[in-house]
Amino acid sequence: MGEGAIPVNEPLLTGNERRYLAECIDTGWISSEGPFVRRLEDGMAALTGRRHGIAVTNGSAALECAVHALGIGPGDEVILPTFTIISCAAAVVRAGATPVLVDSDPSTWCMDVGQVEARITSRTRAIMAVHIYGLPVDMDPLVALCEHYDLFLIEDAAEAHGLLYRRRPCGSFGQISVFSFYPNKHVTTGEGGMIVTDDPDLAEKCRSLRNLCFQLGRRFVHEQLGWNLRMSNLQAAVGVAQLERLQEHVERKHRMGARYTQEFQGVPSLQLPMPTTNYAENVYWVFGVVLNKDVPFDAEHFALRLAKLGVGTRPLFWPMHEQPVLQRMGLFRNEKHPVAERLGRRGLYLPSGLALTDPQIDTVVAAVREALR
Ligand SMILES: Cc1ncc(COP(=O)(O)O)c(C=O)c1O
Repeated sequence: MGEGAIPVNEPLLTGNERRYLAECIDTGWISSEGPFVRRLEDGMAALTGRRHGIAVTNGSAALECAVHALGIGPGDEVILPTFTIISCAAAVVRAGATPVLVDSDPSTWCMDVGQVEARITSRTRAIMAVHIYGLPVDMDPLVALCEHYDLFLIEDAAEAHGLLYRRRPCGSFGQISVFSFYPNKHVTTGEGGMIVTDDPDLAEKCRSLRNLCFQLGRRFVHEQLGWNLRMSNLQAAVGVAQLERLQEHVERKHRMGARYTQEFQGVPSLQLPMPTTNYAENVYWVFGVVLNKDVPFDAEHFALRLAKLGVGTRPLFWPMHEQPVLQRMGLFRNEKHPVAERLGRRGLYLPSGLALTDPQIDTVVAAVREALR
């Protein structure tokens, strides 16, 4: 992309970020022992109505920690969508358990909850619910299945800060729920993640796993293997400033989504994100578009055309059942999930960062029209 290109994401760091960072430097509190870490943990717990927040280094680590804390391991199965980021499947595989996949709903792109029950076996221990691109997965049926079959619910709300499902915050549903604070999220810490839960034992396990499982009395004697997943006070300082403006960030995203949607109404070649479902309003974490059948090229070529026109994009997720690394482990042999396959091949997302301006949106829209010609 050349000069003046519109990046796919640019964060908004115009609140108290600079002031709080200066506070870290002035006080010398830069490690994970500093006070912003607890403030961010408490803030995310309050946002989701949970008792505990445990800050970690990123959303992928949060998932890994969650799966371990629940004691999921060899012989266990976890049901998750095939259309998601590798972090979800990786957390299951690294714990020695088996990921079991479900295709997406063609309209919301989240897991098709109608397919989940058929995939439950005597080995199933958990359902991993993933909220995708700004719409929540339909939680009520999943909660009911977890209750009926006595399964854990792991909620991946990595993209879902400030998103509501039937007026209840995403991140409030799982035995364990996780968030990411990567710079394209509604709350960023540069790199970072958060685990939230109501269960004091799970919270304690996650705290211990995050901190190498040091023991209180005998610090360097270990009964368990953990990781160093601690978030620094510098990162948390940025996160606290971001969280203060979450509502404003969500409103900006709503406006961005509404503007793109309105501008693309007359473009029949594109499937757009659903603005609402009967359980949620889209917060457009990113604005994905999927090429309809009539378009004679795939998303990869579409992205090249848009790049030439100065517009940054990212592909949509590539399904888990088509990941070479997982297939080589003998997983998902001959599985087909046509909706996710179509999304992977025909979809991309457009510039969607919080710093995106209306004139930039107009430029993107004009470029998309041109690229489809
Ligand atoms: C659904 C989902 N889960 C997990 C993650 C992983 O988060 P991180 O990038 O912080 O490791 C992401 C990242 O965007 C995500 O979209």
